[in-house]
Amino acid sequence: MVIPSINSQSELPAHGGDLDRAITQYGGQMTDWLDLSTGISPWPYPPPDVEATLWQHLPQAPNTLCQAAARYYGCEELYVVVSPGSQLAIRLLPTLLPKPTTVAIPLIGYQEHGYAWQRAGHQTLHYQGLAELNALVGNKQVEHAVVINPNNPTTEYYPTVALSDLARRLSGVMLVDEAFADMATASMVEYLDTNENLIILRSPGKFFGLAGARVGFLLSRNQLADQLKTLLMPWSLSAPACHVVESALRDSDWQAMQKQRIQQASQKMVQLLSVVVKRRQPDLELRPQALFCSLFGSKESLHELHQGLAERKIWTRLNTPQEPVSWLRIGLPGSAQSRFEAALDSVIKQ
Ligand SMILES: Cc1ncc(COP(=O)(O)O)c(C=O)c1O
Repeated sequence: MVIPSINSQSELPAHGGDLDRAITQYGGQMTDWLDLSTGISPWPYPPPDVEATLWQHLPQAPNTLCQAAARYYGCEELYVVVSPGSQLAIRLLPTLLPKPTTVAIPLIGYQEHGYAWQRAGHQTLHYQGLAELNALVGNKQVEHAVVINPNNPTTEYYPTVALSDLARRLSGVMLVDEAFADMATASMVEYLDTNENLIILRSPGKFFGLAGARVGFLLSRNQLADQLKTLLMPWSLSAPACHVVESALRDSDWQAMQKQRIQQASQKMVQLLSVVVKRRQPDLELRPQALFCSLFGSKESLHELHQGLAERKIWTRLNTPQEPVSWLRIGLPGSAQSRFEAALDSVIKQ
């Protein structure tokens, strides 16, 4: 289904983590709530001590952070641009393209992409699935394409070789948002050397649980990367935040431990939600991703589950009414596992 969208979207995209809304709707205080409405790891990288001078001085260019990122992501250091969260890169990139163009955007996915391209005056054409994206590119209906791989919240994952082939056939850029790719076995990074129109976004906010650091990465050899770097100079990054993220990227022992516990927690989540689906809401489809699990299906069933958990002060992310498909995303509970299990159990029995 290809839905041309209006270019004057003015409403800001909604996000998880909106506990203020949870409190307005269901009451309680911030501390009463278990927030499972994002895909941020419940086990954040433990921040190392930060020297007081990092707070005092203006930040130096983030050279050592770029080295650490190049090593962790597996690309040339030259390709790394550090941005204050990958979010800012998402907003800025479309503004750097010379003229209004057409871009393929996932129908369901992190809504900031469509918003940013529309805001910058480009025409967005939505696709659902790789076949529709292929058609848009093959028919030359779009100059650029955005792919979220794996997708949040649909969990869809496109083979990197297929994306590389698509990138070659585009006249413009292919932006691949790999914010949730740390647990994946493949990355588009391996195609950076050969695809000049490839732009990859990575985010230490999810796997490393460092969303508050506001550090993100753009990896590319496209000239847009240089433009973004220039725009962000000087001093757009916090030196203490860069220091913490650099430590996280260099700590391979911690990363191995993190992978293992996320895998285990994800399996547990699938088990628990499968019971809910089987016993109460067989119309729902369960789609697991490492850091979250999404449920797709009828609006009523999803709302019932969302509300049942919210009444027990557990906040999950329900799609916005503007979206054409209904879904519910649930993040990993971490140390609140038993609270989550008890709440699910009581929702099932209710
Ligand atoms: C798919 C995706 N990309 C990018 C981002 C932005 O993350 P950050 O700015 O923390 O790097 C998010 C945030 O939720 C996301 O879900």
